[in-house]
Amino acid sequence: MADKITVPEIVKKKRRGEKISCLTAYDYSFARILDEAGVDILLVGDSLGCVVQGQPNTLPVTMGDMIYHTRAVARGCRRALLVGDLPFLSYQVSREEAVRNAGRLLQEAGAEAVKLEGGVVQRDTIEAITRAGIPVMGHIGLTPQSVHAFGGYRIQGKEKEARDRILSDAGAVEEAGAFAVVLEGMPADLAGEITAQLTIPTIGIGAGPDCDGQVLVIHDMLGLFDDFTPKFVKRYADLKKTMNGAVKNFISDVRERKFPGPEHSFK
Ligand code: KIV
Repeated sequence: MADKITVPEIVKKKRRGEKISCLTAYDYSFARILDEAGVDILLVGDSLGCVVQGQPNTLPVTMGDMIYHTRAVARGCRRALLVGDLPFLSYQVSREEAVRNAGRLLQEAGAEAVKLEGGVVQRDTIEAITRAGIPVMGHIGLTPQSVHAFGGYRIQGKEKEARDRILSDAGAVEEAGAFAVVLEGMPADLAGEITAQLTIPTIGIGAGPDCDGQVLVIHDMLGLFDDFTPKFVKRYADLKKTMNGAVKNFISDVRERKFPGPEHSFK
């Protein structure tokens, strides 16, 4: 097995000019497959609200959900850095609650770092969590937990004022001690400017090619989820079609008495 990926290793990758790969995982089997394939970071994202639970957005996801899924992923994650998402309301109410919930993801679920959404407004919270020895990945731009404040999933930072706000968010996240930051849903040139300014790695999703790394939701990139497909998603497989075909074959084998055969039966 190649060397375990740690937080300092992720930071060094930026210094060495090596791109960072990150994918979401929500259970043991997927974690094993992605980890064995060599992905750098496994993120147990609160996107599980949409692709696993069938919710319209990430807001209903709870700490209980995150702990359950992060535990399952941790059992399958040997080499990748394991990052758990802090869900809506687990870190916005008070710094004390934020530190406790971040700590729960490490202590009860086996995460090695946590991710939370927000820049300038979360500066003190990021600082408090990192002071507790918990590595934090920031997340700025189109932050899905603010979907209602944005009025939908809209690209952020198109106008000068919004662009300046996101630049300040990026600076605040780095100053507060985050080891990396997700840049979501923003113009590619803005993400490039942030990436050039920060010493910590940027991980892009819908933020163009100049970020230090890229993240995708695994169900999107494998073609398992098609309720909606953002423009930034590249489909690397069409597993929904493959699964549909396999299930149809099973159904017809059962109906035609072709399964189980003697090789699947006991004497
Ligand atoms: O919840 C999630 O999966 C995320 C990534 C898409 C960055 O936040």
